[in-house]
Amino acid sequence: MIGPETEHRAKTAAALLDWYAEMGCTEAVDESGTDWLAKSNTAPGDDVRAAINALTASSSAQTSTGASSPSGSSRYAKSSSPPRPPHASNQPAPTRTPPSTQPPRAPSAARPAAKPAPADGAVLEARIAATAAPTLEALSAAIASFDGCGLKRTAKNVCVFRGAETARIAVIGEAPGRDEDLAGKPFVGAAGQLLDRMLAAIGLNEDNTHITNVVYWRPPGNRAPTPQEVQTCQPFLERQLEMVDPDVLFLMGGSAAKQIFATTEGIMRTRGKWRTVNIGGRERRTLATLHPAYLLRTPSAKHMAWKDLQAVRKLLAE
Ligand code: URA
Repeated sequence: MIGPETEHRAKTAAALLDWYAEMGCTEAVDESGTDWLAKSNTAPGDDVRAAINALTASSSAQTSTGASSPSGSSRYAKSSSPPRPPHASNQPAPTRTPPSTQPPRAPSAARPAAKPAPADGAVLEARIAATAAPTLEALSAAIASFDGCGLKRTAKNVCVFRGAETARIAVIGEAPGRDEDLAGKPFVGAAGQLLDRMLAAIGLNEDNTHITNVVYWRPPGNRAPTPQEVQTCQPFLERQLEMVDPDVLFLMGGSAAKQIFATTEGIMRTRGKWRTVNIGGRERRTLATLHPAYLLRTPSAKHMAWKDLQAVRKLLAE
């Protein structure tokens, strides 16, 4: 006979499992959690990354950085240099080191000046694979077999793109959600259906539009992708856009705008203002708008998206 305490513990455990599943933690990675802070002050894999960085440091030092122009031209300019974080184009890239448990140290003249963070091995690997892909099909296969983005471990499918393989306009969103993960295609859920209606209103559809995201796998629990995850996918996206060769990039929401514009500014500041982004040595007119998922939650904001859609329609008609 099961006692009340055992029953209570079983119910608590079941509720906890349900909660994990809801948060997107559907994969058992280890039997128990690891307290990385107790082990050391560095993240798992930092030693490997440091070794790769030591090997690539000399070539990285010789490449240019593809700096942003005041007009908003971004790091998407063709460059073999290691990419920089989306929110700090002149700052060192973030590392995966967990936050220190020590109180901050006072600046000291004896400490060496902060060195720029080294290139991440996964980003380098992505760039090599992306550069080697001669076609969109080969690129899709390269993305599917790439293991450098942690999101792949929890996703069911890779979602590269849907729509036209070459197009005058590319729509770039944030990340696949649950429906996209199941279907293996971007923007097929409720937000995608709204996106299709928005595009249809200005004469666009899958035959003349390329639709993708800044990351190719669903983040667990539909959280926003981290800057590191976006950075890791960036070489693939850059190569993809080179091949699609759009005149216009239409960015859905803050994650895409922050990455493509290399800014920390929120979407309410960046939306509705045309900028120029250099991809593969060619300038692309680029506009950010509100994400369709946000519009579903906030219908009162639709007038702003409508204004942005009209601006896209006008530009494409020129
Ligand atoms: N939201 C996105 O940003 N992309 C998708 O593919 C689906 C929802």
